[in-house]
Amino acid sequence: MAKDDESRISIPKHIAIIMDGNGRWAKKRMLPRVAGHVRGVKRVKEIVEHCANIGVDYLTLFAFGRENWQRPEEEVSFLMKLLYEQLEKEFTKLHEQGVKIRFIGDKTRLSSKINSKIFELEQLTLNNSRLHLNVALDYSGMYDITQAINKLLVEKVTHVTESDFEKYLLTYPDPHPDLLIRTSGEARMSNFMLWQIAYSECYFTSVFWPDFKTHELDVAIKWFNTRERRYGKISEQL
Ligand code: IPE
Ligand code: IPE
Ligand code: MG
Repeated sequence: MAKDDESRISIPKHIAIIMDGNGRWAKKRMLPRVAGHVRGVKRVKEIVEHCANIGVDYLTLFAFGRENWQRPEEEVSFLMKLLYEQLEKEFTKLHEQGVKIRFIGDKTRLSSKINSKIFELEQLTLNNSRLHLNVALDYSGMYDITQAINKLLVEKVTHVTESDFEKYLLTYPDPHPDLLIRTSGEARMSNFMLWQIAYSECYFTSVFWPDFKTHELDVAIKWFNTRERRYGKISEQL
């Protein structure tokens, strides 16, 4: 984003991204699907760094959904291998950039090797505050809500308000996303943050995730700036 744009444009506090289209990006180039995932990782690093630079406070990335376990075994194991490699060598760099990392999702299906790496990274970056990065892994929005209900049941709670309930969601205490982006032309939520997107502005682009360079994020942020967030009111009341 150009410097003069930065001063005029309001940066969303929380951006959530459904990073989609890796497989189709590869297919278009007659490459195996996994080549799309490899290129997608490159974009993740650039987007995280860009968000930290332009002053986004919270970034939530949908990396692997609960439903994605149903993909062919070779693809799932490739993705897990890729994830572990990134956790090993790249994510410590994020610590140096002042990023606080948290992994949200069920996680019980992830290998113990991945789980211990995740835990290590969360601990390492616990006191960072430049950018709060949530990586949704083995995540499902329905799971998020259900695990919150189960925690309340354990506490034998008989009545909750919305703000009490939120405290049990995996994304707590982060604010809700202001801007939700989905790449690749799909216009569905695919079981992403169902509660938290109640008032998010949703930006759908046909660009495949491996082509989503920082400029594309700037375009999305500019679009966000054209939205009028009325929260049920009318324009004249704002
Ligand atoms: C998103 O890209 C990455 C993951 C879900 C892990 P896809 O792999 O869904 O790519 P398409 O939708 O098949 O093109
Ligand atoms: C959703 O993408 C999950 C991630 C982007 C990680 P999918 O590509 O799996 O979604 P569907 O199944 O097409 O809705
Ligand atoms: Mg997809």
